[in-house]
Amino acid sequence: MTGVQGSTVQGRFISFEGIDGAGKSSHLEHAVAWLRARGHDVVQTREPGGTVLAERLRELVLHEPMDVLTEVLLVFAARRDHLLRQIEPALAAGRTVVCDRFTDASFAYQGAGRGADAAVLAQLELWVQQGRQPDLTLWFDLPPDEAAARRTAVRAPDRFERQDESFFERVREAYAERARLAPARFRRLEARGSREQVRQRMQEHLLATGWW
Ligand SMILES: Nc1ncnc2c1ncn2[C@@H]1O[C@H](COP(=O)(O)OP(=O)(O)OP(=O)(O)O)[C@@H](O)[C@H]1O
Ligand SMILES: [Mg+2]
Repeated sequence: MTGVQGSTVQGRFISFEGIDGAGKSSHLEHAVAWLRARGHDVVQTREPGGTVLAERLRELVLHEPMDVLTEVLLVFAARRDHLLRQIEPALAAGRTVVCDRFTDASFAYQGAGRGADAAVLAQLELWVQQGRQPDLTLWFDLPPDEAAARRTAVRAPDRFERQDESFFERVREAYAERARLAPARFRRLEARGSREQVRQRMQEHLLATGWW
């Protein structure tokens, strides 16, 4: 959106969160299509990733065994590049950014899942994002056993997906905690039920913002 005299209105930043197999990526496609059908200029992206450098870091993070602090630093390095080169310019141009995972996933996976120090994560969040947060976070909440059943039906697991159920319980609890800490931005989306039911709930959450 470009306003008078070339001034721009900031676009909206939406992140999708939840454990592996909760349904983020499949529903994100629907959200993007739905927003575009309503005339919005949408950038669809993901973390770790979204730029050439960040996608290279993603490959390392998903497939190379590494110490948890190394992993944290790589994830935040990828995020920094992604923010500077893609997300911030898009928002400044008034575009809508829809991102598959963002910093809540670092607190959930590297923090609660792998035991990274929450204070270190919080410091990196400040340095890297300089106050930038999603305007809306849709948290696809699904019990780990149901998510595992959906995953194994379709693909070989990456380094995270091979973790046991207790790992995903901790990740899920961390999302619940992040939601408690940022209630204005977080929307918990019940991810059980059919694809159609979940898609309907997602649209209700999007409409409830009053932004579209
Ligand atoms: N409501 C649903 N009912 C049944 N299956 C579903 C539902 N939603 C998604 N699925 C299927 O479950 C699988 C996992 O979904 P999806 O890949 O969207 O999850 P994800 O949250 O993106 O996982 P990951 O974090 O691992 O990328 C896919 O095969 C998808 O088609
Ligand atoms: Mg996905």
